[in-house]
Amino acid sequence: MNLTLKIWRQKDARSKGKFIIYSLDNISPNCSFLEMLDILNEKLISKNEEPVAFDHDCREGICGMCSLYINGRPHGPDDAITTCQLHMRKFHDGATIVIEPWRARPFPVVKDLIVDRTAFDKIIQEGGYISVNTGGAAEANQILISKVNAELSMDAAACIGCGACVAACKNASAMLFVSAKISQFALLPQGKIEAKDRVRKMVKTMDQLGFGNCTNTYACEVECPKLISRSNIARLNREFICAKAT
Ligand code: SF4
Ligand code: FES
Repeated sequence: MNLTLKIWRQKDARSKGKFIIYSLDNISPNCSFLEMLDILNEKLISKNEEPVAFDHDCREGICGMCSLYINGRPHGPDDAITTCQLHMRKFHDGATIVIEPWRARPFPVVKDLIVDRTAFDKIIQEGGYISVNTGGAAEANQILISKVNAELSMDAAACIGCGACVAACKNASAMLFVSAKISQFALLPQGKIEAKDRVRKMVKTMDQLGFGNCTNTYACEVECPKLISRSNIARLNREFICAKAT
C-alpha cells in the first residue's frame, strides 16, 4: 500500500503544533497501525530526522496507552478495538490518513501524538480501589453474588483507561470512564462499604480537573474499544444522588 500520512507534530507542551505530511510506500495490508508508524520512524531516523512520538506499551489492547485520533475517530475506523489492534487492511491503497493526539483540555499534549493522562490517575486515586480485607479465593467464594451483578461488574472492569471516551465527547466528559470505575465496585458487596465516599470524591475530582458534563450524545459508548455501556453512566448518577442525599 502507498499512503500519505498527515501527522500532528508538536515539539513539547509549550510549542505550537502543526500537521506535517509524509509519504510511505510498500506497506503490507497485514501491518498493524503501530508497525506502520514504526516503519515511518525508521525512515525518519535513517534520514537524521526526529521520529514521531506516540504512546504504546502492550500492543494487544490491554494497557490503554495507544491513544491516537485517526481520521477523526479515537482508535481509528474499526469498532471495539484499540489503535494497536488496528490493521492497515482497514484503509485503501493510496489513502490519506490524518493522525492526531486526543484533543481535550484535561489531556494536554506532551509531544507529537502523546498526551498526559495524569488526570485519570488523579480520579482513580480518589476512590478507584477498595480498602477492605477481602481474604483469599476461598473467602471470596463464600460471598454470594448474583450472576447478573458479577457479569455487569466484570463488564465495567474491562475499561482500560484509554481516554477514547473523553476524546470522542464534544464536552470532553469523562463520565463513561468514571462510571465504569464506580460500577465495578458498586455492584459488589466488597465495594459497597466505601461506595458513597468513592462516588462523591471521584465526581468532585472529575469536575475539578476540567472534564465536561455528559449531555447524552453517547459518542463515548460508540468509540469505546471495550464496549463499556452507557448504562454505567445511569448507575453513576444514581449512586451520586443517593450519596448526596444521605
Ligand atoms: S470507558 Fe472505554 S473509552 Fe473510556 S477509558 Fe474506559 S475503555 Fe477507554
Ligand atoms: S498499546 Fe496497549 S492497548 Fe494499545
